[in-house]
Amino acid sequence: MAGHFRKPHGWFGSLVFGRFMNRINRKITDETITLLEIKPQHQVLEIGFGGGVGLARVAQAVSRGKVSGIDFSPEMVSQAERRLRRQIAEGRMQVQFGDVSAIPFPDATFDRVLTINTIYFWPDALQGMEEIRRVLKDGGRGAVSIRSGEKMANYPVTKYDFRLFSSEDVASLMERVGLRDIRVDHRDRDKWYDQVVVIGTR
Ligand SMILES: C[S@@+](CC[C@H](N)C(=O)[O-])C[C@H]1O[C@@H](n2cnc3c(N)ncnc32)[C@H](O)[C@@H]1O
Repeated sequence: MAGHFRKPHGWFGSLVFGRFMNRINRKITDETITLLEIKPQHQVLEIGFGGGVGLARVAQAVSRGKVSGIDFSPEMVSQAERRLRRQIAEGRMQVQFGDVSAIPFPDATFDRVLTINTIYFWPDALQGMEEIRRVLKDGGRGAVSIRSGEKMANYPVTKYDFRLFSSEDVASLMERVGLRDIRVDHRDRDKWYDQVVVIGTR
């Protein structure tokens, strides 16, 4: 099961897991998009889009811009190509295979970058954050959203393949790569599943 959270694969990952993630992560996705203050003309990148709920929501916000998505699960890329074919055909969306450790875009491409529930699986969190900074334009904002390590430690699945982070850990990584104006929004602290959105500006 932990393997599917990290990298959904096979028929189960493709048919079941993407929809499951879309359902449980809709709220944190909506909060991340609201806090990022995405404008209609923005170029936006989502890293590790999974079932694609974030891509679909961002596409509604960028009527004159574009949303690009990368994911290192080939099944998730194929699924997004099928489910989001209308937005892709209209030229408002592009999805492709890609790893946060080497984001396949030139420097200073995006106004906004978001990644939700993925940092637990990055091979090198500092390098991933550095890559986010690199592809942001000057003044662009990046959001890394998580469930806090404190809450996640209660779920048996996180004993395998997950690396847990606090909001301070994520903020500190942003600081180390030179992002500024770092803001932490931590909600639902009393629930078993909290929501942490950390935003930094290049
Ligand atoms: C737990 S799912 C979260 C999906 C979605 N963001 C959400 O919140 O519902 C993690 C996703 O990140 C992708 N992923 C994990 N590590 C990655 C990496 N190093 N580079 C790109 N994508 C990655 C996985 O393939 C998977 O689709």
